[in-house]
Amino acid sequence: RDTLTILGLESSCDDTAAAILRVGARAEILAQTVHSQGNLHAAYGGVVPEIAARAHAEKLDLCVAEVLRASGLALREMDAIAVTAGPGLIGGVMSGVMCAKGLAVGAGLPLIGVNHLAGHALTPRLTDDVAYPYLMLLVSGGHCQFLRVDGAQDFTRLGGTIDDAPGEAFDKTARLLGLAQPGGPAVEAEAAQGDPARFAFARPLLDRPGCDMSFSGLKTALLRARDAIIAEKGGLTVQDRRDLCAGFQAAMRDVLAEKTRRALAACPDLAVIAVAGGVAANQAVRGALMEVAEAAGVRFIAPPLALCTDNAAMIAYAGAELYRAGQRDDMALAARPRWPL
Ligand code: KG4
Ligand code: ZN
Repeated sequence: RDTLTILGLESSCDDTAAAILRVGARAEILAQTVHSQGNLHAAYGGVVPEIAARAHAEKLDLCVAEVLRASGLALREMDAIAVTAGPGLIGGVMSGVMCAKGLAVGAGLPLIGVNHLAGHALTPRLTDDVAYPYLMLLVSGGHCQFLRVDGAQDFTRLGGTIDDAPGEAFDKTARLLGLAQPGGPAVEAEAAQGDPARFAFARPLLDRPGCDMSFSGLKTALLRARDAIIAEKGGLTVQDRRDLCAGFQAAMRDVLAEKTRRALAACPDLAVIAVAGGVAANQAVRGALMEVAEAAGVRFIAPPLALCTDNAAMIAYAGAELYRAGQRDDMALAARPRWPL
């Protein structure tokens, strides 16, 4: 069929989401909703898998009902149901997969299991109709990798973090400095008023060739700098905190920019670099990537923030491409905690 109407479900981390897309020559989001569990986990300093799984199971039906109502469509008017089948917290992924199986069987619709990372990686095709091949930098709380994208099922990993993800490093930095979670926006706001030159944090792995990155040492360096100030003065001033954030963010920005330069140099045939993931919201990071793209003569694409972070529109969109590629899943579709592209 030329135009597909697809229901997508996402529940692999701490957001429960559903979306309905119509995908013809262009993709159109007919309805979408995201129920974030952030507040449920706030007291624990991180996502608690059991709490997440339970909340997903409770919210999925509600999300589906919401998007059906908002789109004015009935379930039987869908051409397929796409669902995140991994990677992620297994309880949440299982909740989504079970919900999708129930809907698919009930309405007699095809089921399509989608890799969450593929959802992120294909987002620039949903938002900007980008042609293959292109370079994707996925930078979120759980992921950090460069992907060469040649097709909906054709990804090549050029490099990535060997320890913490950038969003995780932002979140840990915020925790060390007593700032609110999620840490990214809080650290960015403090950094805007800080002096990035006061703390000259090392830029990890820039001395090594390739596109791999490391951020756990940066977090340790920040911890040491913080403790040195506390040992000397008995506590942090507002300006100390701002300068620490600025130094941290500058190091993060420089590493991501330099590794992006290398990834582009390794793929001279690519005309586009796209970003996705929550850290792509950071203006300093975004600005640096834009400069790298400009210097390399390639187009830079950053999807709107709501489509950079976890959402179901990207899952429905990836589902449409996989449907067109002939993928069909059945009741044997498994939830996978680990699933490299
Ligand atoms: O993609 P996402 O919503 O979820 C996954 O991790 O899958 O990304 C969330 C991460 C969090 O670690 C958050 O601190 C980070 O993205 N983040 C930011 C900013 N906004 C969100 N990091 C840096 N600067 C920001 N403005
Ligand atoms: Zn994600």
